[in-house]
Amino acid sequence: MIEESVIQEIKDRSDIVEVVGDFVSLKKSGSNYKALSPFTDEKTPSFFVSPSKQIFKCFSTGKGGDAIEFLREVDSMTYIEAIKFLGEKYGVEINDSEQDYNTNNEKESLMIILNKSKDFYKDNLNSDEGKSIALSYLEHRNVSRDMIEKFEIGYSLDQWNSLLDYLSKNQFNEDQIQKAGLILEKNDKKYDRFRNRLIFPIHNISGKVIAFGARIISEKKNQPKYVNSPETPLYVKSNVLYGLYQAKNIIRKSDNCILVEGYTDVISLFQIGIENVVSSSGTSLTINQIKLISRYTKNITILFDGDKAGINASLRGMDLILENDLNVKIVSFPEGEDPDSYSKAVGKDKFLDYVKSKETNLITFKVDLLNSTYKDDPVKKSEMIFDIVKSISKIPNSIKRSVFIKEASNSLDISEQALITEMNKLLMNSENKFTQSKNYINIEKEETAKKKEINSAINFYERECVRMLVNYGTSDFEVLGLDRKSFIEYFLNEIEDIEFENKNYLKIIEVFKNEFKSNRVIDINYFLDDKYNDIKEDVIDLSANKYEISKQWKDKFNIHVSDEIDSLKKTTYTNILRLKFRLIRKMIKDNLKNLSKSDMINIDKETLELHNKLKSAEMEIAKQLGNVTTV
Ligand code: UTP
Ligand code: MN
Repeated sequence: MIEESVIQEIKDRSDIVEVVGDFVSLKKSGSNYKALSPFTDEKTPSFFVSPSKQIFKCFSTGKGGDAIEFLREVDSMTYIEAIKFLGEKYGVEINDSEQDYNTNNEKESLMIILNKSKDFYKDNLNSDEGKSIALSYLEHRNVSRDMIEKFEIGYSLDQWNSLLDYLSKNQFNEDQIQKAGLILEKNDKKYDRFRNRLIFPIHNISGKVIAFGARIISEKKNQPKYVNSPETPLYVKSNVLYGLYQAKNIIRKSDNCILVEGYTDVISLFQIGIENVVSSSGTSLTINQIKLISRYTKNITILFDGDKAGINASLRGMDLILENDLNVKIVSFPEGEDPDSYSKAVGKDKFLDYVKSKETNLITFKVDLLNSTYKDDPVKKSEMIFDIVKSISKIPNSIKRSVFIKEASNSLDISEQALITEMNKLLMNSENKFTQSKNYINIEKEETAKKKEINSAINFYERECVRMLVNYGTSDFEVLGLDRKSFIEYFLNEIEDIEFENKNYLKIIEVFKNEFKSNRVIDINYFLDDKYNDIKEDVIDLSANKYEISKQWKDKFNIHVSDEIDSLKKTTYTNILRLKFRLIRKMIKDNLKNLSKSDMINIDKETLELHNKLKSAEMEIAKQLGNVTTV
């Protein structure tokens, strides 16, 4: 347990702007900061940080809270992890260590075991065996002391269970050691997973070890070059990038991320001062890794080892990058070289020159690669053209798309129109290209569900607005205790540009409006007249004294009725704002729907412009809502 006073001290010293700034790139916006939400794939920033209130708020997902809450959301930290993270960042001493080990939080315990193991492996490096086998190997490969420290490189002894013994002696539980992926079991005998190998710890974004990659030192037959931790509750390979903890701040500052294939590539480049580098650990990029990078920058430079097989496989993952609207440059190295060997051979300046001179955009890269591989095979060539068009169709931005189409048309020597026609076919088949290319049916389901939710929210807020009118139509507002303003005037003014969907509500409002024009302020009794038979029932329903909102609605839309008369203006204002918010959301959805059904190249621009306008209106309202709801 961490003492309450220590937690308070940590909270007091923490600054949310700094904490969030470690994860996303914040821009000043008035007295707040804003950014693209780290929780979604949005194109317009809807994520805000308020230094005065020390909170964040994400309007796309509704998430919000203090620095601790942010860490929990963004890095799936537990409460304790978040506290410790902040403690380290702000230099508040926490007496944690093993005494925390027996928490019932599994991830927490696994993390403690892994970090203890990391220390063990690091110490091994300076043992006699470590010096003669591992340190000498690292020296031979010119890995500096600094890098060994920075990346916490270690060594696993050439024994069957040195780690298991060590951890057991330190009272760690065998089941959990196994869960952490550190031991294997055969015929009821447990033994260390990593033996006689160089250990590369894999850190999470806050610098804690969550897994290991272990490289063979002396070549042995039938042994893989690397043995890696299995997936555990802590380590989901597809969500992790090796080196990101060390590189993240530099990636943000340089606004570029270099992606390489291996652990050693990361370390070598880092050592010569190219520090914005991470590795996907030998697999092709996943969507989560891309999202992770895009928290820091939209510009990725991918460095491929010089072997064609690897490149072809990885290219399959590349469309994900296009879909996520990142700018990607690709460089491949000469046959047999990787960034590690090449940078060691030529040095930093020549290495950077090489990257600059060879970098191409993804489409050109693909065109060149496939052109050189299949130039004499017409069948393969048409397949490849289709493949390239498909990649281009994944780009959300229409202007970028047309630029790439032009480029592909030139280098493939095929008419632009033919490519456009092909692409439009593809685009028409995708229900909504702003949603990731999941399976078609899923998208449709999701869309209708979303739509239903939006519609029911619209109905709800329309009702709320008209209810305010029916019940408080004759009231006045107190404005700072000075002036009084009539509710009806305020209300009619606020809803002026709203088209109510419910025809009866529309009528009710019309009646109020017409009377007000003739300087009459009416109340429910006015509707007793027979000529209002069609809307009478609604008025009565809305004016019911004991208007009860079901708990479900209350939770879902965060409505509080108890004190609405006290804060009439605020309640009305918020309800109208919420209605507007939902209406705009709906318009955005409808607009995007048109977008995917239309000829993208030709009329896209207009729709996109409308989209952007609606988005900024949405943002504006979200901002206002944020202000009133957090007051
Ligand atoms: P490489 O074979 O290029 O290794 O694999 P490397 O990192 O460049 O190592 P050196 O420089 O030859 O010593 C690239 C990455 O693929 C994964 C590792 O993450 C490695 O860094 N890999 C490779 C494995 O997971 N297992 C393997 O057996 C080989
Ligand atoms: Mn390599």
